[in-house]
Amino acid sequence: MEVKLASKLGFCFGVERAIEMAERVLARHPEGVYSLGEIIHNRQVVEEFSRKGLKVINDVNQAKGLVLIRSHGEPPEVFEQLRNRGVEIVDATCVLVKRAQQIVTNLAKEGYQVVVVGQVKHPEVKAVLGYADDVICVDKPEDLELLPADGKFGIVCQTTHSLEHFGRMVGLIVARGCREIKVINTLCEEVRRRQAAAVELARQVDVMFVLGGKQSANTRELAHLCQEQGVATYHLEGWEEFSPDMVSGKSVAGVTAGASTPQWIIERFVNNLRRFESR
Ligand code: F3S
Repeated sequence: MEVKLASKLGFCFGVERAIEMAERVLARHPEGVYSLGEIIHNRQVVEEFSRKGLKVINDVNQAKGLVLIRSHGEPPEVFEQLRNRGVEIVDATCVLVKRAQQIVTNLAKEGYQVVVVGQVKHPEVKAVLGYADDVICVDKPEDLELLPADGKFGIVCQTTHSLEHFGRMVGLIVARGCREIKVINTLCEEVRRRQAAAVELARQVDVMFVLGGKQSANTRELAHLCQEQGVATYHLEGWEEFSPDMVSGKSVAGVTAGASTPQWIIERFVNNLRRFESR
């Protein structure tokens, strides 16, 4: 069938950097190193790194030798705990996440009640919340109950959210009432470009495939934006999850992929889909 690709898709520079750093430390330490949490939200990449000796731990107390900090970052107390354990830290926190962390610290110093628009359970948000005291996380209108009345708010956003969502939440905070508000855009431009390209493509095709890990926030956001365009959308981790009924009666398919989806998964999917005869 005819397959069109989004003009921007797949690995972002932050993920590429984390992967390169992991490759380098594994070359230096063939006996294996530790990663605090999965290096990226992509099962296939995590499995490949596991075969190469990257061991995933979820607890600082399991850390020894050398520990890789993934692109989502970690809160300051985790770095301190790791230093206290005497382990070598290789920090692959994305520069844009580091920027958001620094902004949170600065806003708190300037006397703002810091508010992060983001998913409270997402690793990046969990880390960012640690860069000042009493940071409040909101992601849905009902979360605004958590905010003090008439406050002086300094607002940032999870890097992978959409501009529309951030704007909506800021608008609701303003409408609810505040003494002063300072909004700093911490959205990732790499994510925004992928979102814009996905929306543009979704408007031209009969069905959209969004490739990437089910845990990947930016991939889920891409799928959500495509669905909002009214096109049938499938969020798949790879070709193994494809089924013929997804393209039944369709002639043009669009493909995009999250910032943590490797090129080989995209190529394999696109090649197979191009060969597929839809009925
Ligand atoms: Fe960094 Fe944006 Fe990628 S925040 S890890 S460049 S999605």
